[in-house]
This record gives sequence, C-alpha cells and structure tokens, in this order.
Amino acid sequence: MNFKPLNVCITGGAGFIGANFVRHWLAKTREGRVIVFDALTYAGNVQNLAGLERDPRYVFVRGDICDEAAVRSLLEQHQIDTVVHFAAESHVDRSILGPDDFIRTNVVGTHSLLKAAKTSWLDRKTVPAHRFHHVSTDEVYGSLGPDDAPFHEASPYAPNSPYSASKAGSDHLVRAYHETYGLDTSVTNCSNNYGPYQFPEKLIPLTLINILLGKPLPVYGDGLQVRDWLHVADHCEAISLALARGKSGDLYNIGGNSETTNIHIVRTLCALVDEYLAGRADLKAAFPASSAARGTHAAQLIEHVRDRPGHDRRYAIDYRKARRELGYEPTRDLAAGLRATLEWYLSNRAWWDALLGRDYAAWVEKNYTRSQPLR
Ligand code: NAD
Ligand code: TYD
Repeated sequence: MNFKPLNVCITGGAGFIGANFVRHWLAKTREGRVIVFDALTYAGNVQNLAGLERDPRYVFVRGDICDEAAVRSLLEQHQIDTVVHFAAESHVDRSILGPDDFIRTNVVGTHSLLKAAKTSWLDRKTVPAHRFHHVSTDEVYGSLGPDDAPFHEASPYAPNSPYSASKAGSDHLVRAYHETYGLDTSVTNCSNNYGPYQFPEKLIPLTLINILLGKPLPVYGDGLQVRDWLHVADHCEAISLALARGKSGDLYNIGGNSETTNIHIVRTLCALVDEYLAGRADLKAAFPASSAARGTHAAQLIEHVRDRPGHDRRYAIDYRKARRELGYEPTRDLAAGLRATLEWYLSNRAWWDALLGRDYAAWVEKNYTRSQPLR
C-alpha cells in the first residue's frame, strides 16, 4: 500500500477474529483511530473488546453493514481511509440450516460497504488515499482430494456450502469494484482460525468446553476431513502485512502449515485436557464433570454423528505468494497454539459461561441432529 493507514474501520470487530485484530492493531500502531462497526449479532460480543474503552483511539459504533447510508456517514465523520472487513455470518452449519442471513450479510452487506466506499473515496474524495481489505476464506476453493496440490491464488472457485458461496460472491464483488471503478482493494483467503474469543460453536472451542463439562464430543462422519489450522495471531499479522505490502487488486492465501484431520484435533484436545487437569486439584474441583475429575478419559466422550451435508473433505493452502510478497510466515506451532488456547478458555470461564447461558444452548438443542450417533 502506498500510504500509512490512519483511521481504520474494522467491520465485525466484536467477533472472534475482528476483536483479535482490533487488539493487534491498537498494540501495533501509535497514530490514528480504530472504529469498530458491528451489528452485535449472536456472534458479536462487546466483552471481546473489554478494556479497550479506556483507549482514546478506540471507537465502537453499533451498526449494520447493509445500511449503506450509515456506513457512508461513518466513513465521512471519522475520515476513515482504511476498511478491514470481517463482518459476516461465519458458521457453515448455520448456513445449511438458514442460508438467507448469509446472502444478506456476506453478499448484500459487502456490496453495501463497497458502494459506500466508492461514493466516499472515489466520488467525493474524502481522503487522499484509501484501502478496502476484505477478509475471506479458503472455503471458496471447494474441496481437495488427498493427493491434490494445496489451493493457490489461481485455483478455481468451487464453493460447496451456502457460507462459502456467499463468501465467494463477496470476493467477486471486491474484485469487480477494483477492476470497474478503481477502488484500492486487497483480499486474504485464510484457513481455519483458532485462539482466544472464538465462539463455542466452532470445532476447537466447542470440543474444549464440552470436555471440561463432560459433554459428548460430536465428530461429523468419520472425522477424517482435513483442515489447515491457523492461530488467529498469525492471521492478524498476515492482514497487517497485506495492508502494508499487498498490491492493490491482489489476493493472498494465508495458511497455518498445520494440516490435520478433525478426529486428530479432537483426540489431541482430549489428551491435552486430561493431562493438564491431572495434577490440578483446583481445576478438577472447578470442573467436576470433566473426565480428569471423574478418573476417566475424555476420548470416551467422542461420538461420531451424522455428517454435515456437502462436507468438504480437505482444505490445504499454498501460501508461497504471501511469503514471497508480504514476508508472511505462520509462527505458531499447532500443539503449542492448542495448549495456549486451552489456557485462555480455562482463564476466561466467565466469558464462555455467559455465552452458554444465552440463546446458544437452546439453539443447539433445537437445530442440531449431532447428538444422534451414527449407526
Ligand atoms: P464471527 O462470526 O466470530 O464474527 C462475525 C462478526 O460480524 C460478529 O461480531 C457479528 O456481530 C458481526 N456481524 C455479522 N453481521 C453483521 C452485519 N450485518 N453488520 C455488521 N456486523 C455484523 O466471525 P469470525 O470467525 O471472526 O470471522 C471473521 C471473518 O473472517 C469472516 O468474514 C469470515 O468469513 C472470515 N474467516 C473466518 C475463518 C474462521 O476460521 N473463523 C476462516 C477464514 C475466514
Ligand atoms: P468448523 O469449526 O465449523 O469450521 P469450518 O466448517 O468452517 O471448517 O468445523 C471444522 C471442522 O470440524 C469441519 O470439518 C466440521 C467439523 N466439526 C465436527 O466434526 N464437529 C463439530 O461439532 C463441529 C462444530 C465441526
């Protein structure tokens, strides 16, 4: 990028990755402001940003990215020159049960943001230079066979779920606004993130919490689906690098160098929690239903349940372009990253207890078939 971002709008900044990025950006920069724009859906949580209200550089605005007029006035009021766009519906299982919200937020919402950015930045020239960075996923490329080469930036798009199709649609709109109107854009497509503040509907936090509470661990189908796991801190660094060095109109794949089957992840977490709690009377007392407290093994909680329809078999990322052009390299080893994540969830029980007490538990109960074991 040929300028230093000053006032940065982070859409979806109250979600998992967005909140990590807000913290990362405020710690990394000294000037300018961070304006979080978030609708606070079930996945948005102001607790993810707790403590930041004391920072004079941080502003929180509740709003919907589909509201183009609100976005335009935000861009102009705060002299925003950079948008980092995380806001989305992000959970594949929810997209299967109800795709409409995914089309609305991910496609229509991204388009509304692009229109507002075009009006403010290109037509009304509110700032001398700008960048629209779009955060996307490797899921737009579809599914790989066991011996296929990893996805690279020229791999054809072949999304299989309503979620990935809606993200693919948003990626295409970002490209079109660059090619057609000359909007300065960049896109990162990354693999599965994990780490602090991840909503406990996703595999890793769901498994950790269920182990601690002694609940079943649902593994879809045979569990041999492969994902590439990326610690959220590495992802945040990659986005910073894309802002600093990414070429306008370009896209970069961001991987974690950690291809693993789901069943391996679940078994690793079982062993990790059993071992971690083994010598800790305080934790065993805090989690009396955990296998460690009951003298059993967490792996006994694993239940193979009915597979997700259209379930992608394997994702893998070739991130050589990001390495070459951005200087990106993931730094977190998966085992160390999972251990640090367990420690975060153990230290932040109040954060996830509050979520389980909310509508989440009822929603899981109502919508999931996962508790039915495979025959
Ligand atoms: P998340 O579901 O935890 O958070 C999404 C955030 O967007 C929430 O704060 C929510 O309130 C907000 N939001 C939703 N609809 C909105 C709207 N209409 N207007 C304003 N805000 C709205 O998601 P996440 O896991 O942090 O993912 C962030 C981005 O990264 C998404 O675009 C996702 O597609 C992408 N991504 C995620 C992963 C992953 O593993 N989590 C991997 C690759 C890419
Ligand atoms: P998830 O965390 O939902 O991310 P994504 O679908 O975006 O990859 O799921 C990661 C993998 O784990 C995916 O292959 C589905 C699987 N999975 C389970 O086996 N059990 C679960 O309870 C969940 C939530 C996911």
